[in-house]
Amino acid sequence: MGRSFQKPRGTQDILPSEQKYWLFVEDTFREMMLSAGFGKISTPTFEDTNLFARSVGEATDIVGKEMYTFKDKGGNSITLRPEGTAGVVRAYIEHGMHKEPQPVKLFYFGPMFRYDRPQAGRWREFYQAGVELFGELDPTTDAQMIAVMMKFYEKLGLKDLKVRVNSIGDTRSRNKMNKALIDFLSAHRRRLCNDCKNRLSKNPLRALDCKERGCQAILDEAGSMLLDNLTPDSRNYFTKVLEYLDDMGINYELSPRLVRGLDYYTHTVFEVVSGNESNALGGGGRYDGLVKTLGGPDVPAVGFALGVERVIDLMKKQGVGIPEPARSDIFVVQLGDEAKKKAIKVIAQVQDAGFRVAHALGRESIKGQLRVADRLGTKIAIIIGEREVHDGGVIIRDLKDGTQESVLDRNLLKAIQRKLKENK
Ligand code: HAM
Repeated sequence: MGRSFQKPRGTQDILPSEQKYWLFVEDTFREMMLSAGFGKISTPTFEDTNLFARSVGEATDIVGKEMYTFKDKGGNSITLRPEGTAGVVRAYIEHGMHKEPQPVKLFYFGPMFRYDRPQAGRWREFYQAGVELFGELDPTTDAQMIAVMMKFYEKLGLKDLKVRVNSIGDTRSRNKMNKALIDFLSAHRRRLCNDCKNRLSKNPLRALDCKERGCQAILDEAGSMLLDNLTPDSRNYFTKVLEYLDDMGINYELSPRLVRGLDYYTHTVFEVVSGNESNALGGGGRYDGLVKTLGGPDVPAVGFALGVERVIDLMKKQGVGIPEPARSDIFVVQLGDEAKKKAIKVIAQVQDAGFRVAHALGRESIKGQLRVADRLGTKIAIIIGEREVHDGGVIIRDLKDGTQESVLDRNLLKAIQRKLKENK
């Protein structure tokens, strides 16, 4: 035997028994977003490294520490996408979507990659379900985005969730915040971690999501340094967002230190947590400057993304029941070479007619095949032996009560329909 392999650290195999959760989350997300007028977009899983450096930001942990970056054989610097927004904005610009009627509303579902320290709820490859809306700057849009996200969790059956909200204002507000933070942090410089000392000169706002305990203690004292430095316009905007959230009955918490780990945000930022968990289930915010930064026109935007693994974990913890995946209606059983040939034709015919069909053509004995049917919970079996081949028919067996009847080939579909109806 040769050497065996294991999946890379921080990745997972999603086995058939788990897929019902994945299908349920993806289907629910897709159906909800399509009916809310969003269109699906898929972008590459890797992009030019500069795209992320320019959007997510050089001083962030994501770009500084967590990217899977490599040179391809042509010498280009490529990065496996650590998040979905940058690629969607790139596509929005590249395909001239700003010329379409605004708002442009998009959603996506796919794998993201971050070289994070693997632990509960933290993977190196993980899936995000995300939404981006372009071309609308209005407090109702921010509140609506938060409402859409919360509605989705509700549709999944999740309970006891809370959304934390904050505002980091427009560019002028952020300049004021940065100045205030530099003054404050400089006074405590000696007690800051090395990363934060660096952040002080590069991007002081980033210090607010430093995970070091020492820095956190210092920043606890910074309190409402962000909200206090909002310009009147930005404050006004944020007040309206909160009013709309109140109107919609959304359970939010003002979180004055929330900045989120990406540089592109402006105005409203938000994050969803469940009761006592520390990992965020999802997060997002407004990013009015990003389209322009990446070479497009000045178009405002807002969006969010949620971590599918974390959502599924919580569904399991909260014991959320999900519909069982569709079982097969019919199991085709065959005995003998000629019967097998006929079985293949019958399977195709029944499948074409829209029934869900299962079989175990590799098994010889009728008993063995019926055991598989039983395990699948199939309602009826079509049994084909040499005799049925000769007579131009099949046997239909009710797998619940064991009754069976012979049916001619030409009556097969009708008989199946009748049997399935009786069997409901
Ligand atoms: P983010 O907060 O970095 O935002 O990621 C969104 C969600 O992805 C997190 O709340 C979490 O559920 C999940 N997630 C992040 N990292 C991991 C990981 N290592 N393992 C498992 N799950 C993880 C963004 O990515 C923004 N692009 C969201 C956005 C869209 N903002 C505006 N539009």
